[in-house]
Amino acid sequence: MATLIVHGGAGRWDRGISRAEVDSGLERAIAAGWRALGGGALAAVVAAVAALEDDPLFNAGTGAVRNSAGGVELDAGVMSATGLRVGAVAGMTDTTNPVRVARSVLEDGRHALLAGAGASHFAAETGLPLAGHERLEAMARPVSGAAGDTVGAVCRDPAGDLAVAVSTGGTPGKLPGRIGDSALCGAGFYADTPGAACATGQGEAFIRLAGCRRAIELLAAGMDAPTAARGLIEELRERVGGEGGIIVVDAAGRPGVAHSTPAMPWAWRTDRDAARWG
Ligand code: GLY
Repeated sequence: MATLIVHGGAGRWDRGISRAEVDSGLERAIAAGWRALGGGALAAVVAAVAALEDDPLFNAGTGAVRNSAGGVELDAGVMSATGLRVGAVAGMTDTTNPVRVARSVLEDGRHALLAGAGASHFAAETGLPLAGHERLEAMARPVSGAAGDTVGAVCRDPAGDLAVAVSTGGTPGKLPGRIGDSALCGAGFYADTPGAACATGQGEAFIRLAGCRRAIELLAAGMDAPTAARGLIEELRERVGGEGGIIVVDAAGRPGVAHSTPAMPWAWRTDRDAARWG
């Protein structure tokens, strides 16, 4: 069975944002991911997250929020359970699709995480388009303009592979140089034989808990995806006082979604059915 889940970021989505626009952004991401599913779970999650990066409604890629210096620094990560392959980038300032650079880091295989100018240099050498620093900053949202935090996707493909992709502009008004959980394997994303997990919310809390790795441990202990998602968000609050959300798919393809923030737009699709937030 195939399952694809996407989210548009934990936060507040009641401040003059059209629900219909959010839902069509999620639907475009699900459609892009589902179309790419023939290439496997990793291709599906990268396509879904790239679609969300291209939508200015979401805090990632094109719609990223500014940091305290008025600049934009983007983090993204991808992981495949098969071979525990991982790729991530941090602090990128000149691409609207950092998730594609993260995938190239994974495919290249020499490193797990590239940051800043080194990530840009790698992207250029790999032939990935760079948007230009000025263009990205011109498109960025003001610190007060973010409804949510981070976009992400998890997938179980028909062959049983599990994958995750995540991308973010980070927390609004963050200090320049701050790297969040979305660049850090185990904190903001993880995939292994029991399932795949993707986090959104207070990155520092997910880093302290190694939140997505912890969600996979809950699956390995016998929980299904909905129970593990709820358990992880409870642990986040109880152990490190954090707020956020998580999407989880388990090895059987069951979808799990949980959040402690007022809202977190999400949608999922399987071979049999589909659902979305609210
Ligand atoms: N959860 C995204 C971040 O804190 O950067």
